[in-house]
Amino acid sequence: MMTYQDTTTPAGGDGPILRCEGITKAFGGVNAVNGATFDVPRNKITALIGPNGAGKTTVVNLLSGAMKIDSGKVQLGTTDITNMERYKIARLGLMRTFQLSRELGGLTVLENLLVAPKVQAGESLFNIFFRPRLLKREERQNLERAVEILRTYGLFDLRDNLARELSGGQKKLLEISRGVMASPSLFLLDEPMAGVNPALIDKIGGYILDMKAQGVTVLMIEHNLNVVERICDNVVVLAEGRTLATGTMSELRENKEVVTAYLGEIINAGPSH
Ligand SMILES: Nc1ncnc2c1ncn2[C@@H]1O[C@H](COP(=O)(O)OP(=O)(O)OP(=O)(O)O)[C@@H](O)[C@H]1O
Ligand SMILES: [Mg+2]
Repeated sequence: MMTYQDTTTPAGGDGPILRCEGITKAFGGVNAVNGATFDVPRNKITALIGPNGAGKTTVVNLLSGAMKIDSGKVQLGTTDITNMERYKIARLGLMRTFQLSRELGGLTVLENLLVAPKVQAGESLFNIFFRPRLLKREERQNLERAVEILRTYGLFDLRDNLARELSGGQKKLLEISRGVMASPSLFLLDEPMAGVNPALIDKIGGYILDMKAQGVTVLMIEHNLNVVERICDNVVVLAEGRTLATGTMSELRENKEVVTAYLGEIINAGPSH
C-alpha cells in the first residue's frame, strides 16, 4: 500500500488542521468569497459544496496561496498562513491539485511527478554546492517514490506518455498523483471526479479513503452528493461566498435553509445507491 507520510509538524497538533475565519475576495465588483468561515477537522474528509459560482474554487485558491485574500484569516495548525507565499504554504504541508498546464502537458507522466512541488534538499544552494551526495540520494528517493505512486494510481504503464495525451480520467489521476508526491498533511481537491466515468469515480473515492487511512486530511470540492454521502465525514456548504452551514450530510438534510438554497430535491431523495 502507498505510504503518505504526515511529515510536517507545523500542521500537527490536536485542534482543527485548518481554520478559515471570515475570508473575503472580490473581483472587480463581484464578491466571490464574502466572509467564509469554517474549520477543517484533522484526519477527516470534508466536502466543500455549493451551487455554481458559490466561490468554492476561489476559497481553494485563497487557502493555498494561489490568490491573495482581501480580509480574514487562515490558520494551518497553529501557524497563521494568511497571504503567505504559496511555496511556503506547501512546505507547511498544504497541497492542492492543479489542472495540467500547457507546460506540464508537454512533459511525460513520470516527469510530471519528478517536477511536482516539494520540499527537497536540492532547493538549497548550500546543498547544491557542498552536499552533492545528499542530492544524489534524494533524486533516487524521489524517483522511487514517483514510481510507487504511479503504480498505486495505475499510471505506471503510461509513465513515458506525454501528459497531454492522457484521457480525461487519467489526467485526473495524474493531478492527484502530483499532489501526493509532496506528502501533504492537508490535501485540497477541486472536483477530483468531475467528468470521469462511474468506475473511475469509485476508484478515486477509494484512493481518497486510503489517503485518510494514512493520516492525510482532505478538503474536496464535490458536486456529486452520492460521492459526498459515501466518503465525506463533514460538509461545508458555501453559497454566495458565505458559509451557509456545516455538518454531516444527515444534519444538513434537517437544515431547511440548506435544503431550500441548494440541496432541494436531490437531498430529499437521499443517496441513489
Ligand atoms: N479570476 C477571476 N476573475 C474574476 N472573477 C472571478 C475569478 N474567479 C472567479 N470569479 C467569479 O467569482 C465567483 C465565484 O467563482 P468560483 O469559481 O470560485 O465558484 P465555484 O463555486 O468554484 O463554481 P463552480 O461550481 O462553477 O466551479 C463567480 O462569480 C466567478 O465568476
Ligand atoms: Mg469551481
